[in-house]
Amino acid sequence: MVSTEQDWREQGDAPDPATVGRRRVLQALGAATGVAAVAATGLLSYRAYDAAVLDPGGGAAHDPWRDWRAVPGPLGAVGAAVLAASPHNTQPWRFAVAPDAIDVFADPARGTGSVDPFGRERDVGLGCALENLVLACPPRGLAPTVALLPDGGGDRVAHVALAPAEPGADPLYEVIDRRHTDRGPFRPAPLPPETLDALSGPDPGGSGPAVHWIAGSAARDALGRLLVDAAEALVADTGQSIDNFAWFRATHDEEERYRDGLVLDGQGFSPLELGVAKLLPPSSRADGDRFWVGRTRDVHTATAAAYGVVTLGQGSRAAVLDAGRLLQRIHLRATAAGISLHHMNQITERLDREVTTGATSDLGPRLAALLPAGRRPVLVFRVGWPVRPARPTPRRPVTAVIA
Ligand SMILES: Cc1cc2nc3c(=O)[nH]c(=O)nc-3n(C[C@H](O)[C@H](O)[C@H](O)COP(=O)(O)O)c2cc1C
Repeated sequence: MVSTEQDWREQGDAPDPATVGRRRVLQALGAATGVAAVAATGLLSYRAYDAAVLDPGGGAAHDPWRDWRAVPGPLGAVGAAVLAASPHNTQPWRFAVAPDAIDVFADPARGTGSVDPFGRERDVGLGCALENLVLACPPRGLAPTVALLPDGGGDRVAHVALAPAEPGADPLYEVIDRRHTDRGPFRPAPLPPETLDALSGPDPGGSGPAVHWIAGSAARDALGRLLVDAAEALVADTGQSIDNFAWFRATHDEEERYRDGLVLDGQGFSPLELGVAKLLPPSSRADGDRFWVGRTRDVHTATAAAYGVVTLGQGSRAAVLDAGRLLQRIHLRATAAGISLHHMNQITERLDREVTTGATSDLGPRLAALLPAGRRPVLVFRVGWPVRPARPTPRRPVTAVIA
């Protein structure tokens, strides 16, 4: 069962500084009793309506979460694909749909620049979409056969041949529209090794993607410090800070216009915090950077029950796409088990940046010391028991992403 913020506080944890800060804002507004009091003033109630304070998850930008399941055939499978995770919610995909095949393409216009200079995270996101697409074929009476990189490289990352089959469904299909990234606090309860192993799924062995769990307190603390240091380094790098901020959608209007990017609904706030955040003026880049580093230190790393690191034994692009498929499956298994997952990739984003700038730091050796020898880190995430449910974020509709 999902516990309330009240439970969390009763368990004796330090108050979240972001919450304290917003409480001061509320007091300054003379509305410490909550959103109802805020909504009682005429001007603010219009702002509340305008900013969709009382309707998180509503609006046309969220229609793809509601509309996909009833759509038959390959278009319905694409409807599942667009609900996948992607870096900064860039949704870096396009699809060509025929009755007997779906081609998946990278959209080179939807990158994060210096945050992902080699397109590694973009390819992981495409792998996530491909996994949802494949899971959504059997319920539509389609058997998918995937060929990765059918042109050997370039923008076409997968050709999925479709053959008629008896309808069936993987249990992970059922939770595709309940999977969301949870950036909120997690409850202080451990995840036993057998629970983590169940999230990994079968180990295929070899040099392909595998997940390495970091759950012991010393290693977990070391990775937590590393994540905070990497977040500080990222915001101190003006190029990365600007490229990060470019995908923030600060207002409800922007969410509805672009239907992508990072939004307040996805920050793991309590309903009260979310309502107040939506009523405040949009943050500057510097404020956003400070907020993110603070949350990384005081919420994300402070409440992680365990971290997962998806590693590869070799560096091919097909292996990176497969790593995305594995990441999506892990997130869906976590969702089915009521466990929250939050992607945290600032360390690998800094390591890629160091390659492009020639700078060096101790981030790479510190991460390698926590991993099995000979395995390369591709993705990092934290897992834990949720304090509150994570919310859906905007998506472009299928009609906007088919060729
Ligand atoms: C390759 C990849 C990297 C990501 N890196 C981060 C990250 O470093 N920090 C973070 O908060 N979310 C990260 N995310 C999560 C995305 O921001 C998230 O999937 C997107 O905003 C859509 O939200 P949803 O997962 O709730 O549907 C990443 C996702 C992917 C696929």
